[in-house]
Amino acid sequence: MKVAVLGAAGGIGQALSLLLKTQLPVGSELALYDVAPVVPGVAVDLSHIPTSVKVTGYGKDDLSTALVGSDVVLIPAGVPRKPGMDRSDLFNINAGIVASLVEAIADNCPNACIGIITNPVNTTVAIAKKVLEKKGVYNKNKLFGVTTLDVIRAETFVAEIHGKNPSEVTVPVIGGHSGTTILPLLSQTGLSFTDEQIEQLTKRIQNAGTEVVEAKAGGGSATLSMGQAAARFCLSLVKALQGDNSVVEYTYVETDGADALFFAHPVRLGTNGVEEILSYGELSDYEASAKAAMLDGLKADIQLGLDFVK
Ligand code: NAD
Ligand code: LMR
Repeated sequence: MKVAVLGAAGGIGQALSLLLKTQLPVGSELALYDVAPVVPGVAVDLSHIPTSVKVTGYGKDDLSTALVGSDVVLIPAGVPRKPGMDRSDLFNINAGIVASLVEAIADNCPNACIGIITNPVNTTVAIAKKVLEKKGVYNKNKLFGVTTLDVIRAETFVAEIHGKNPSEVTVPVIGGHSGTTILPLLSQTGLSFTDEQIEQLTKRIQNAGTEVVEAKAGGGSATLSMGQAAARFCLSLVKALQGDNSVVEYTYVETDGADALFFAHPVRLGTNGVEEILSYGELSDYEASAKAAMLDGLKADIQLGLDFVK
């Protein structure tokens, strides 16, 4: 397996690359690309960790070489939020970055699975779809918005409230990746909550990114927890690509449009990427009305991305 990380010298990129260097299957290759001149150094640094994963670093003129032969490409390239900003405020800068990187993926590794981390995810994934369509290589089974951070946060916060080990807690999170479009399904955890707890926990999960942005006070957004989340997603995908077709992750994928064109669902992964988009099941009244209230916003975010690529 070859995994490329685009934006590998950044906060997420470095944490993610460290986890992949130590956890990708034996014999894998990890290609690190960034426009920041430090990226070859990040690769050398990681290469001293004694695993059989081969790490190579590529600077701004070597994107094609970084991408050729990749099975999975993860994109955390772009600017993060500062306090007072919404994820949508990143659109002006990050839309162009994602479009140009996805164009290079289409040219150099059109069959790769692509995991988009760059915000605003609700919109950048739609940009990627259009770029790939324009290049004639779009495969909806291989394009993912990485929303795993919402899932791991939900698991952490629910475990805290119930005094449980987070590894024993499962919390589905559907929808998109910003504000109220993030919809945790607390009714499906098998645990009981008061109405007040549901309200507070839902809001905390939806605002957890802002919680980190404010705590970092201008120094960026979540990087370490996102590195862990993206590594979990990537390792699941790699396992599935290698033949395990029982792997399920919640991820933002193109659907039949019943809710919105892109919507995070439980997805069974396999050798072709998405094997099956699973139903997210029954919603409580609270969840159903929260979903109804956010759908127009999510659809508008998606349309912005579709319209970006002419
Ligand atoms: P960062 O500033 O620490 O790192 C970004 C990296 O991208 C930098 O090293 C920069 O040089 C690189 N970069 C910029 N333009 C590039 C290009 N054209 N090609 C290659 N590399 C390029 O930022 P970060 O904290 O790592 O966050 C990155 C992005 O991830 C942000 O948009 C942030 O909002 C987003 N994010 C998403 C989630 C999620 O759940 N999906 C979570 C956290 C952050
Ligand atoms: C997050 O959820 O932490 C990321 O989307 C970064 C952000 O801007 O909140």
